[in-house]
Amino acid sequence: MKTNHKLIFGNSNNMKEVISESVNLVVTSPPYPMIEMWDEQFSALNPEIKEAIQNGDGMKAYYLMHDELNKVWKEVDRVLAPGNIVCINIGDATRKIGKSFQLYANHSRITYFFETMGYQVLPVIIWRKETNKPNKFMGSGMLPSNAYVTLEHEYILIFRKGTNREFDSKNKLGRQNSAYFWEERNIWFSDIWKDLKGVSQKLNHEDLRERSAAYPFELAYRLINMYSVQGDTVLDPFSGTGTTMLAAMCSARNSIGYEIDPKFQKVVDFRLNEVLLFSKEIVLERIKRHIQFVEKYTKEKRDLEHRSTRYGFMVMTNQEKNIFFPIMEKIESINETEFEVTYDEIPEMAYIRAGSKQVQTNLVY
Ligand SMILES: C[S@@+](CC[C@H](N)C(=O)[O-])C[C@H]1O[C@@H](n2cnc3c(N)ncnc32)[C@H](O)[C@@H]1O
Repeated sequence: MKTNHKLIFGNSNNMKEVISESVNLVVTSPPYPMIEMWDEQFSALNPEIKEAIQNGDGMKAYYLMHDELNKVWKEVDRVLAPGNIVCINIGDATRKIGKSFQLYANHSRITYFFETMGYQVLPVIIWRKETNKPNKFMGSGMLPSNAYVTLEHEYILIFRKGTNREFDSKNKLGRQNSAYFWEERNIWFSDIWKDLKGVSQKLNHEDLRERSAAYPFELAYRLINMYSVQGDTVLDPFSGTGTTMLAAMCSARNSIGYEIDPKFQKVVDFRLNEVLLFSKEIVLERIKRHIQFVEKYTKEKRDLEHRSTRYGFMVMTNQEKNIFFPIMEKIESINETEFEVTYDEIPEMAYIRAGSKQVQTNLVY
């Protein structure tokens, strides 16, 4: 099995390299309008934005920034195949411009734009990113009434282009291979994700999020496994440090990324060096957790009836029986911006098949 990954340095408001209706899933996080670290980039796209901020007209700047994002959402609409899903990670912004402090509700503006494009709006996920900064509370302190609630959550907006995706009835196994565990479903499909740190500290790098606004690997990995099948193509029009591409590689999906700022090439190269080992560990970690779950469940509740056809461990439902974890064996560069990944079985899987419950991983919690 092989997958292909392209990282294109350019503006995603014109994704001419991508064929219309060829993408199966979008997982992305744009620059957040009205968060100061993105002012310069938005102003480079439209100098009126800088002027509006300088003139104290926050609302004008906010609308103009969303106009820039909307150009990308229109391109996303062109390249996405009907029935497929768009996941957008976004935070709102609070900001004082001139004398006025207010919330800029980015999530609502993006939702509205997708409504106007005729998309079905699906339930959102909220995840917490608590801050311990000493100055996190703003406003009038312990005196009413001009103090402000601190924003410590982000949204994952989920939209579908039209009605449910249809799957080829002749290739049922392809979809079944891409199943996730029952107990993962219970967490992944909850509307509040309280802990995204767990599984994948390694690729997250301590200060990466601060410096580049990268989202956690686990966020992209979950969404890709929730909303696409192996062999699909995942697009990230705001690729940054390439988190979506890495998660797509680890999930045996193809990917395409666009990034306007060439400084990210180095970070992506650096992360690519680590992903091979990581791909193996993330799968072993999922299996280890599953085996622990089954042990606890059978001890406390009842025996399970279904068995994984490939790995031999028990699973909760018939839908999980054909679950399959391709593991990255090698990455080859086709050219400067394109990579091919080959997948293989790993020796550890033989131990699991033989009934060993001791799955070793080096993942940091
Ligand atoms: C919030 S960051 C994305 C971070 C990414 N999810 C990660 O994990 O590293 C947004 C990225 O979009 C890029 N960007 C902004 N406007 C763009 C555009 N029109 N086309 C392509 N990339 C753009 C920025 O340079 C930035 O790297």
